[in-house]
Amino acid sequence: MCGIVGYVGKLKAAPLILEGLKRLEYRGYDSAGVMVCQDGKFVLVKKAGRVANLEKEAAKVRLTGHFGMGHTRWATHGGVTDANAHPHISSDGQIALIHNGVIENYISMKKFLLTKGYQFVSETDTEVLGNLLAYHYAKEPANAEESRFVSAVRKTLLHVEGTYGIVVMALDAPGELVTARKGSPLILGIGDGESLVASDVSAIVSRTQSVVYLNDGEIAHLTPSSFSITTLAAGEVSPVIDKVTWSITDAELNGYTHFMEKEIFEQPAALENAMRGRFSEDGSTANFGGLNITPAEFRNMDRFMFCACGTALHACMVTEHLIERFARVPVECDYASEFRYRNMPLFSNTLFFVMSQSGETIDTLAAMREAKRKGYKVLAINNVVGSTIAREADGGIYQHVGPEVGVASTKAFTSQLLIGGLLSLYIARMRDMSFSDGVQFVQALKGAPDHVRTVLMQAEHIKGIAKRYAKYRDMLFLGRLSLFPIALEGALKLKEISYIHAEGYPAAEMKHGPIALISEECPAVFFVSSGEMFHKVINSMQEIKARGGRIIAIATESCQLPDGLADEVIIIPECHEAVLPIVATIPVQLLSYYIAVELKRDVDKPRNLAKSVTVE
Ligand code: M6R
Repeated sequence: MCGIVGYVGKLKAAPLILEGLKRLEYRGYDSAGVMVCQDGKFVLVKKAGRVANLEKEAAKVRLTGHFGMGHTRWATHGGVTDANAHPHISSDGQIALIHNGVIENYISMKKFLLTKGYQFVSETDTEVLGNLLAYHYAKEPANAEESRFVSAVRKTLLHVEGTYGIVVMALDAPGELVTARKGSPLILGIGDGESLVASDVSAIVSRTQSVVYLNDGEIAHLTPSSFSITTLAAGEVSPVIDKVTWSITDAELNGYTHFMEKEIFEQPAALENAMRGRFSEDGSTANFGGLNITPAEFRNMDRFMFCACGTALHACMVTEHLIERFARVPVECDYASEFRYRNMPLFSNTLFFVMSQSGETIDTLAAMREAKRKGYKVLAINNVVGSTIAREADGGIYQHVGPEVGVASTKAFTSQLLIGGLLSLYIARMRDMSFSDGVQFVQALKGAPDHVRTVLMQAEHIKGIAKRYAKYRDMLFLGRLSLFPIALEGALKLKEISYIHAEGYPAAEMKHGPIALISEECPAVFFVSSGEMFHKVINSMQEIKARGGRIIAIATESCQLPDGLADEVIIIPECHEAVLPIVATIPVQLLSYYIAVELKRDVDKPRNLAKSVTVE
């Protein structure tokens, strides 16, 4: 969850590191630190709060070194204080360390180190690891075959239980960085006379587009002109250099106030990118390049299992509905965090899917590994190219929507819904769906970006509603069938960026408890579509109205709402069942966004959250 960036090269390191930290701030923003090695010393500045605070402090210090590293923290062990911020320097002053992850056996290590005279100034597990590194480094003999520095890191990590992505500097090896990972992403940037390391491509893509994705259990040694990778067991690794396909401007605001706003309005283009090249030549089904499973194998599956977290799980739930509805194949969805521990019995012919924007969510990764251990093939639906989940999956589908920076997921979600629609079409066409129904389905999916454009044109209308509703402290989101997961998503969006308590429910379930919340103080957002559920949803709305609750209706255009039933109405286009969840999502994204802006919340960096949750 924390952001990591390291640099060794020909330029002054601090400005590059601070720039990288700003781009990584969405990964964690409790505190931040920057450190360079200059004139035979470590010069360190660290501060609780945002990177902007750190920048102010750093401006007061002469930071001229060409080698250094920086960190944005999302606290796990120890409160949000200057002392707990990273980097941490060992008590003998020889080793500096930044770390993402959790060292589980840090208490026993600390006891051992105290007996050896090491001292601690923070409450973090990271400082313990830094001191253990210093202990091994001091004992390390000069070894002709391998750098002393790498060897000490390797010996230290063999004692560590838990997860880590670390970057280490040694005072007597100023132009070198050693970096290692187990469970936390790290990417090497290979530049011209400079080397970089970061937890996320966005921190280094302005310097180089040549990257190497480090794997779990690997240690890399970087100098300005070279890099080498070995395993924890000292085996040689032949690195593969990948090219990043997006540029830094894709991760900039480009005139918008917030990344969330930019990413909401980018959705028509994002959907076009997600569907490009994904239709068969005859226009009757979907086409995926990277499944690594033959159509015959796919056809043989009796069940599909989906695991994800947060917003991505809501996309899985819509996908479940669509596959069961159109392909008539049973689907199960589970929270990745629960699946990984509950030893769920699975049918043999089950194809396993994980969905994750970042491809680094630890619970989703663990669920995937558990399914693979049990012998299941796992396909990943994922946005970040080269992410751990993408690399460990047996195959998958990239979302291709470019970097999503706002902590609240928007364009990633609607593109996951689109891929869910494509997948249900693909599976349905292998079964009972006719050619002409397939063609109609394809046409409907192709129309999704225009429908989204139509809803985005109502932004001002939705902003007006947001201004009137920002004063409420509780809200319900209610929908049925494929719009129930969109109700969950609406409630999640609102609570995560505005801190208003919100709950999503299937509309009819409201009578079994949540209706007790209804009063003038608790409005309800209803999703209303024409078709079989129309009258049932209207009944639920009447029940709310009868109890004095205010209603915001998000209704498809042919719905004839009884006069006066809804206090506010947002009309969305009539569309195919696979497209409706996408189109119905846009108003709740806008509503949450404008409410959060009205309440002056930090939209892109909501409190306590981080973009990608890489710790358990
Ligand atoms: O990167 P992932 O899709 O695996 O992330 C999963 C959740 O952490 C994420 O969707 C989270 O719920 C978002 N903040 C929601 O906006």
